[in-house]
Amino acid sequence: MADLTLSPQRDAPAVSDGGVWLSCIECGHDHPPFEDIIYTCEECGGLLEARYETYPTFEDFEGHGVWRYDAALPFEEGVTLPEGATPLHRVPRLESEVGVEALRIKHEGMNPTGSFKDRGMTVGVRVAQELGVGRLACASTGNTSAALAAYGTRADLETLVLLPAGKVAAGKIAQASLHNARILEVDGNFDACLDIVQDLADRGEAYLLNSLNPFRLEGQKTIGLEILESFRDDYGRFPDRIVLPVGNAGNTAALYKCFRELVASGALEADAVPKLTGVQASGAAPMVEAVEEDLEDTRRWEDVETIATAIRIGNPVNAPKALPGIRETGGTAVAVDDDEITDAQRSLAAEGVGVEPASAASVAGLRKLRERGVVDDDEHVVCLTTGHLLKDPDAAAAAGNDPEPVANSTEAVLSHLAE
Ligand code: F0G
Repeated sequence: MADLTLSPQRDAPAVSDGGVWLSCIECGHDHPPFEDIIYTCEECGGLLEARYETYPTFEDFEGHGVWRYDAALPFEEGVTLPEGATPLHRVPRLESEVGVEALRIKHEGMNPTGSFKDRGMTVGVRVAQELGVGRLACASTGNTSAALAAYGTRADLETLVLLPAGKVAAGKIAQASLHNARILEVDGNFDACLDIVQDLADRGEAYLLNSLNPFRLEGQKTIGLEILESFRDDYGRFPDRIVLPVGNAGNTAALYKCFRELVASGALEADAVPKLTGVQASGAAPMVEAVEEDLEDTRRWEDVETIATAIRIGNPVNAPKALPGIRETGGTAVAVDDDEITDAQRSLAAEGVGVEPASAASVAGLRKLRERGVVDDDEHVVCLTTGHLLKDPDAAAAAGNDPEPVANSTEAVLSHLAE
């Protein structure tokens, strides 16, 4: 069983550097953070997470965006574009249709490259600079590659991205391409790409910046910090539940870590921790299966398919961190079909919030859980939308109105409108 508690709080071990170290979630072995390049435990192969000598309270935060939260991060600043400080939209029609006390949308598509990945990348690339690496790499369903390319080139580092051929939305490839990444299209799915990138990283060919890298998740914790601060400003309390799309389960793990650290510092009561509620596409739902069958880890799905290509993932590498988060917060996981995802994408768009299909999965999942009576009508809920509508223009166009051809005159336009 994974040890994901932070208490009792420990003094920094000898391997710590500036009060930061890496600890294995399985065996508890501590590792120095910036000496050797490691992604998993050298003793047992378990996932690593960053630990700190002290954890901040809300009073320790100052400034704007991800680096406002430097007291919760391994560095005080990094390569920034800048990222974070995304809106927490009101969606009154959706709120009353779904039938909850409050519904807000945390739109991570408003980050510089259009997804939450920028939060992890600003921190991850800062660590890469500390380690002095030359080449950055990731496997990606698209968004990670766009963020890696932008932050990598900004830091003047070479970037290499491995993408599943034919399964990445057009906007994301365009970004990786123009931000100067070397793009390798692999004849295989995301999980196969990640296997290869892990091999490359193990052989010292590149520094891996997928969410297996524990420092990526440090940046992504700031989503949780922003949600809690903004929600408290507007409602005088924290949300009961956060609903989010799940692929590799990095965000789920990052939010859970955010909450645990706030509980450790005394800034959040254990019984006020929001219920982490994960949503997957039914064609790629190993996390939902693990929650429903109470498995300790996910079973790898070899064949995955969904319109939400961002979460077309069969082997969520962060499951050992994320499953305890879902369970211990009293959350759950649910699968939604592609047509439910598209419906939710249209509903968000009708409120002016443009998201890509994977993002809409959160709202589709909330709808389903309300219908099933799992979510109560008195709940305060935040849905996370992870990527911008323009990431996947083809899906948006297919879900929206078709353009109507019309002749080149006012008369023709008027008669067409009258039809
Ligand atoms: N939503 C979007 C838009 C994503 O791009 C991703 C992951 C997720 C949700 C899932 O997040 O992995 O933390 O559970 N995209 C990765 C990528 C895999 O390569 O861009 P997770």
